[in-house]
Amino acid sequence: MKLLRRAAISTLTLASLAWAGTLLGEKSQSQAAGNGPASSSAYVGADTCKTCHEEEFKSIHGTPHSESVLKLKGGGEAHSCETCHGPGAAHAESGGDVSKIIRFPKLSTAEADKRCLSCHQSGSLEHINFERSSHAKNDVGCLSCHSPHHANTPQFLLSKAQPGLCYGCHSPAKADFSKPFRHRVDQHLIECSDCHNPHGTFGDKQLRSARTQQQVCVNCHVEKQGPFAFEHVPVKTERCESCHTPHGSTNPRMLRVSQVNLLCLQCHSAIANSGIPGTPSFHNQAQKYQACTMCHTQIHGSNFNEFFFK
Ligand code: HEC
Ligand code: HEC
Ligand code: HEC
Ligand code: HEC
Ligand code: HEC
Ligand code: HEC
Ligand code: HEC
Ligand code: HEC
Ligand code: HEC
Ligand code: HEC
Repeated sequence: MKLLRRAAISTLTLASLAWAGTLLGEKSQSQAAGNGPASSSAYVGADTCKTCHEEEFKSIHGTPHSESVLKLKGGGEAHSCETCHGPGAAHAESGGDVSKIIRFPKLSTAEADKRCLSCHQSGSLEHINFERSSHAKNDVGCLSCHSPHHANTPQFLLSKAQPGLCYGCHSPAKADFSKPFRHRVDQHLIECSDCHNPHGTFGDKQLRSARTQQQVCVNCHVEKQGPFAFEHVPVKTERCESCHTPHGSTNPRMLRVSQVNLLCLQCHSAIANSGIPGTPSFHNQAQKYQACTMCHTQIHGSNFNEFFFK
């Protein structure tokens, strides 16, 4: 599933990069006053920047933003340092006048995001929803999670690895993943970003969807997807989360309730007037009928039995 998502990166095409280079050039030209290069400024190239910023040059070299990668993917329009920092001739000639170069910490979150997105939004499904994500809406931007110069992960230029990166702002999630029954996110068996797209999605809660447009869970729990000859209706009509907590729970199988029968009887009680069959009368006579899934084992659906027996 990782591989599938990774494939989206390659859709960052030559054409989109070339276009972005042009766009960025124009943008920075108009950013004459204040924090930006002078309108007359031109590109000088990374080698010139390097003469005064050896350290920053090194921290970009070898990353996907190094000059060679940008040139390879973007052709002549990519300008290494200056694709992000804007044309730097005036800055260089002035011996380092900081008002003549784009400094990211001085940009608003939205302005910084815009510079990154000029390359990363076009052609990449992963990022097309960023501007309407709850992250962007709450002033969480690219640089809240990424750092081109000071990354701390070997991949994705993250300022901190998951899940610590996310826990920094989402402490309730940290508590969830410490519960006795949980997805092993802290053990790196799966990651937050397997279920969520931090760059936003079309759906609710920044949740990824499955290839089949179903919910994200069946990406891994394929056998729950069906279709089955005998579907258990709520598995199809409600979400998996109607019975399970997605992060973690104090209940086995990450169920929302402590005993299975309480879960089932929410819908299958004799008094419920919903058209859903109640439990047959012989069910409530003995203790053994409390463990519903002892008998109704194929609770997510079955190809063999309408009552979900084995
Ligand atoms: C002649 C030397 C020189 C050259 C060439 C030069 N700079 Fe600078 N740059 C400086 C100096 C000096 C500062 C101010 C440093 C400070 O205040 O700590 C500076 C500051 C900056 C800053 C702001 C740093 C901060 O801490 O906010 C950025 C970004 C920057 N330069 C990028 C570039 C880029 C990109 C290039 C190439 C287009 C470049 N510089 C070329 C000397 C140079
Ligand atoms: C992908 C966009 C991008 C590229 C390419 C890039 N920078 Fe930066 N630069 C940033 C951002 C963002 C910051 C703010 C610090 C951070 O988040 O890493 C920054 C910060 C800086 C600073 C301030 C000191 C610091 O480390 O925070 C200097 C100086 C600088 N860059 C110079 C350069 C030079 C020289 C190059 C080319 C070798 C370059 N940058 C390439 C985005 C970029
Ligand atoms: C809330 C944190 C967060 C924010 C905000 C964020 N990212 Fe990411 N980004 C991540 C994480 C985590 C990954 C690794 C995802 C994975 O494992 O698939 C990632 C991966 C990426 C990748 C590589 C993977 C891919 O499929 O494209 C790019 C490029 C990227 N981010 C760019 C951006 C840009 C540009 C922005 C701002 C518009 C941004 N990110 C905002 C957390 C974030
Ligand atoms: C000139 C276009 C351009 C700009 C502007 C740009 N990037 Fe990138 N970025 C790229 C390219 C090209 C790659 C490599 C993609 C690939 O390997 O397919 C990349 C890769 C990445 C990755 C993935 C790294 C990995 O290990 O896979 C992240 C994260 C990222 N960029 C974040 C940012 C952020 C944050 C900004 C804004 C500060 C930014 N980019 C600005 C072109 C750009
Ligand atoms: C800099 C702080 C920050 C970081 C880092 C961060 N988030 Fe967020 N996140 C927020 C804020 C603020 C919101 C919007 C308010 C809210 O719903 O909590 C949000 C919203 C979300 C939502 C949507 C919640 C909803 O109710 O719609 C999800 C899911 C989420 N973040 C997941 C992640 C993941 C996964 C990571 C790590 C890759 C991450 N966040 C990193 C601050 C952050
Ligand atoms: C197994 C998939 C999965 C993983 C892994 C996962 N989440 Fe979630 N997360 C969900 C689902 C599903 C929801 C929606 C729950 C609902 O609507 O009842 C959700 C909801 C959220 C919310 C919204 C608030 C809430 O509790 O409803 C935040 C914030 C969040 N997750 C953050 C994270 C962070 C941070 C991580 C990693 C530490 C993470 N998630 C890992 C599936 C996952
Ligand atoms: C990235 C793959 C992945 C995704 C997506 C995923 N899971 Fe899981 N899930 C696992 C793995 C792996 C385990 C086994 C965990 C272990 O052994 O610690 C597991 C375990 C479980 C269990 C507990 C099984 C047991 O025997 O106790 C339940 C229940 C569960 N997942 C439900 C869900 C739900 C609901 C979703 C969607 C919100 C979901 N999963 C999404 C990988 C995933
Ligand atoms: C109607 C309630 C309900 C719904 C909806 C539901 N489950 Fe379950 N699920 C259960 C119950 C009850 C168990 C415990 C079965 C047992 O104890 O044998 C369970 C167990 C599991 C297990 C662990 C045991 C196993 O069979 O592998 C996984 C994984 C799981 N569910 C995933 C999912 C996924 C994924 C979805 C959504 C496609 C989903 N569940 C929807 C009730 C439900
Ligand atoms: C969210 C409501 C809901 C929950 C919770 C739920 N079910 Fe169901 N169940 C249904 C619906 C709706 C049907 C389909 C009824 C029909 O076919 O008309 C159904 C069908 C069944 C059937 C087949 C009945 C038949 O006559 O074909 C069995 C057996 C069953 N459920 C057992 C369980 C068990 C055991 C649990 C607890 C693990 C459970 N259900 C939890 C809603 C629920
Ligand atoms: C000891 C095994 C066993 C246990 C435990 C058990 N059932 Fe059943 N269940 C059956 C049998 C046998 C039938 C009848 C199948 C038939 O009519 O052929 C049945 C039928 C059902 C039906 C279908 C009723 C109808 O009219 O279509 C529902 C709903 C149901 N059970 C729910 C539950 C619930 C909820 C629990 C837990 C409180 C539970 N069962 C526990 C064996 C069991």
